[in-house]
Amino acid sequence: MKVFWKSLRLKYIFICIFITFGISCLIGITPISIDECKCDANGTSNHYGSHRIMNNKSRKSKHRLAILVPFRDRFEELLIFAPHMQKFLAKQDLDYHIFILHQIDRYRFNRASLINVGFLEVKKDFDYIAMHDVDLLPMNNELLYNYPEKGPFHVSSPELHPRYHYPTFVGGILLVNRGHFTLVNGMSNKYWGWGLEDDEFYVRLKEAGLKVTRPQNVSTGTQNTFKHIHDRSHRKRDMTKCFNQREVTRKRDRQTGLNNVSYKLTGTIKMTIADTALTVLNISLMCDKSITPWCECDKMDGPTEVKQKERKRSESM
Ligand SMILES: *[C@@H]1O[C@H](CO)[C@@H](O)[C@H](O)[C@H]1NC(C)=O
Ligand SMILES: *[C@@H]1O[C@H](CO)[C@@H](O)[C@H](O)[C@H]1NC(C)=O
Ligand SMILES: *[C@@H]1O[C@H](CO)[C@@H](O)[C@H](O)[C@H]1NC(C)=O
Ligand SMILES: *[C@@H]1O[C@H](CO)[C@@H](O)[C@H](O)[C@H]1NC(C)=O
Repeated sequence: MKVFWKSLRLKYIFICIFITFGISCLIGITPISIDECKCDANGTSNHYGSHRIMNNKSRKSKHRLAILVPFRDRFEELLIFAPHMQKFLAKQDLDYHIFILHQIDRYRFNRASLINVGFLEVKKDFDYIAMHDVDLLPMNNELLYNYPEKGPFHVSSPELHPRYHYPTFVGGILLVNRGHFTLVNGMSNKYWGWGLEDDEFYVRLKEAGLKVTRPQNVSTGTQNTFKHIHDRSHRKRDMTKCFNQREVTRKRDRQTGLNNVSYKLTGTIKMTIADTALTVLNISLMCDKSITPWCECDKMDGPTEVKQKERKRSESM
């Protein structure tokens, strides 16, 4: 009995020694420098900096992309969006940075004005923008975010988008270069609330003679090219129309645009979500109620307040 215990103890001692040896070996072979240099390796003094360390190889793409994401109250979606985009775009040789255009004023959400503001704030350092919904994740690596030299490139084409399939659709994800966005005077500032601003932008592009191109011969379809992470039952879209909003927003706007978006940039926050660097711009939009009284519908001074069940795309624009 005693002999049995002795041999058992000896066995455990050997096992212990073996494990200790194994662990020391593992420690020995791992690289010494685990913390990498987080410094700006390319040494450029951009206003907003680069999203990641640029090696020589990625510097060869000379155009810089600003991903502009209009935003309000969608933190859960942002937590998914940011790391997804980083992983997705890592496979492409791009120099990009993500900007969250955070509307902090009390007015209704204005996606188009936020994009105008984002553009004005970054145009010094970036050559093209991606107007990007926060709830639409590209899933197919054939979707490229390259510099759209000849005209706007609509990544979320109606043939691929999970929901919108009409031929003039340019919402979701649209790449536009700096020259073209300036040429059409950006987007209209009249679209407070959800919808139609992208259709108006399509008319601007068309009138300027710019041809929108889209991904060709993509191997996936409407169900598996993008992932739509918006939970519609949880977050209701603001489809209210008040005053004469419905009439006005069906027409091409020749009054407002990039050259007269009225706002204050009240703060700039650099943050990192799961290793993805991004910049949040706190934007306070101003509303001229003599032009767009519908920037606040809930104030009961509106003569007509009509709720729309579903966005009706205007074909007449
Ligand atoms: C990086 O690029 C510069 C100039 O383009 C070149 O002179 C240098 O050799 C490159 N370094 C490496 C490690 O490739
Ligand atoms: C797409 O496929 C068609 C037919 O298969 C081909 O003619 C066309 O050149 C392709 N387009 C691109 C952009 O690869
Ligand atoms: C934008 O310009 C138009 C005239 O082109 C003017 O009617 C409008 O008040 C301006 N809007 C703002 C917000 O400055
Ligand atoms: C940005 O806006 C948020 C929400 O209004 C606020 O809590 C935060 O302090 C602002 N940050 C800066 C730097 O302005």
